[in-house]
Amino acid sequence: MHPDGACQAILLCASDALAEGARAVAFDVVYAGQPCRAFAVRWQGAVHAYLNRCSHVPMEMDYQEGRFFDDSGRWLLCATHGATYAPDTGACVGGPCRGGLVKVRLSEKDGLVHWHTDPLLQPPAS
Ligand code: FES
Repeated sequence: MHPDGACQAILLCASDALAEGARAVAFDVVYAGQPCRAFAVRWQGAVHAYLNRCSHVPMEMDYQEGRFFDDSGRWLLCATHGATYAPDTGACVGGPCRGGLVKVRLSEKDGLVHWHTDPLLQPPAS
């Protein structure tokens, strides 16, 4: 938690780095005290980010680094057993997932994308 208890906005990347259909942008977070990878994608114009942790087995989901969309470009896919998630909500829509992905809140303004901390989601120690 930020020393004053407030949630922080942390610069993730330039908007251009998150193109529709492009590879995800990876970043590191601490979730519930555990170091964890997260990823951000753009889908239908909006940016979304999640922990890179499948709800089936807590493994990273990309079979090639940064590749999360299935061949249709419609769903986020876990490469291990095929759990499928909605890119805008992280909800499980197919496969063996048990619940949805953990969402990381993003904001986009003036060509920059920031991610937002919350009580469970903190930046890694620098
Ligand atoms: S670990 Fe993701 S579907 Fe099994």
